[in-house]
Amino acid sequence: MTLITTLFFMVVTVLAIAPHLGPSVVGAHKGGGGGYLYPQFYDHSCPRAQEIVKSVVAQAVAKETRMAASLLRLHFHDCFVKGCDASLLLDSSGTIISEKRSNPNRNSARGFEVLDAVKSALEKECPGTVSCADIIALAARDSTVLAGGPSWEVPLGRRDSRGASLSGSNNDIPAPNNTLPTIITKFKLQGLDLVDLVALSGSHTIGFSRCTSFRQRLYNQTGNGLPDSTLDPSYAAQLRTGCPRSGGDQNIFPLDPASPAHFDNNYFKNIIYSKGLLNSDEVLFSKSLKTMELVKLYAQNNDLFFQQFAISMVKMGNISPLTGEKGEIRKHCRKINTY
Ligand code: HEM
Ligand SMILES: *[C@@H]1O[C@H](CO)[C@@H](O)[C@H](O)[C@H]1NC(C)=O
Ligand SMILES: *[C@@H]1O[C@H](CO)[C@@H](O)[C@H](O)[C@H]1NC(C)=O
Repeated sequence: MTLITTLFFMVVTVLAIAPHLGPSVVGAHKGGGGGYLYPQFYDHSCPRAQEIVKSVVAQAVAKETRMAASLLRLHFHDCFVKGCDASLLLDSSGTIISEKRSNPNRNSARGFEVLDAVKSALEKECPGTVSCADIIALAARDSTVLAGGPSWEVPLGRRDSRGASLSGSNNDIPAPNNTLPTIITKFKLQGLDLVDLVALSGSHTIGFSRCTSFRQRLYNQTGNGLPDSTLDPSYAAQLRTGCPRSGGDQNIFPLDPASPAHFDNNYFKNIIYSKGLLNSDEVLFSKSLKTMELVKLYAQNNDLFFQQFAISMVKMGNISPLTGEKGEIRKHCRKINTY
């Protein structure tokens, strides 16, 4: 073959293979402002930024292991509402109604003080430079690593919103009792596919859920007065002792009782044994052949889970970022700048 035809076939091969590789693993992604996110964004403007985030997050997780899970979840709840723009971090004030009041976040989302501490350390080092949205993305990565999970390079350069959306937070973040088709649709609206859904749900390998988030499964799943048939009966009985029919809403239970503080693929093994805690976990196995196959795959192959988790986290982190002249770099993550 001539050089030209060889090159031609190489290009055709890459194009043919690329879709099967799933999401792009390239570090730069187009943003909402026509700009791009890339890992080196702060290399000149704030060279120690990543190191500072990591050190504050590590201190917080050393104090309380669960904080790794809580910080990871904040990135998800930020990105699914108007993109990864730190809208989640704004407190109510003036015309802003905080997303912290939404159904998914109220009495549940936590870790805001840790992000405040990161921000204040970064403002001392390089004022007005590192966005709150990037801090959340870095904290989610560092938390995953601290819990024993995979690492990845975080594309950076997101800017912060000047508003929040309570309705977006209520509607766009999946609820634990949503049907699988509804959950799939909510992911699709963010540009995330079935592979991303199953891999990212693997976050439930760490952290806790409140009784109120899964009680329905224990007592009256379909309105016939019976527990969820896809929940292991002895596990259900055990859960009922701490999660009564009424009261105890805020009692907490590990999402992955096998290893609650360790980021691993036990979450997928639990699901196969009908021991997924949330309805949204178990439906991945019981309501679709495609997602079931992925659950089995990740249960069998931890490396594959870690690889895909990293890819899907980058993809989630790229949801509609504000770049260029859009948004701002907040001075405090809880409030928009005043000029
Ligand atoms: C697939 C749809 C999802 C649903 C329905 C869902 C729902 C939930 C619920 C109900 C809880 C317990 C909250 C509480 O009771 O206080 C929870 C916890 C958690 N979620 Fe999800 N989640 C989903 C996807 C994700 C994704 C994509 C991530 C991260 C990438 C994530 C990370 C976490 C973490 C780490 C926790 C534990 C938080 C802590 O201990 O503070 N979840 N999730
Ligand atoms: C899901 O849970 C919410 C809040 O507890 C409840 O209002 C709603 O009726 C539940 N939906 C279904 C389909 O069970
Ligand atoms: C189960 O839920 C249905 C519909 O929400 C309700 O009519 C019924 O009384 C409940 N049964 C029990 C035993 O709580």
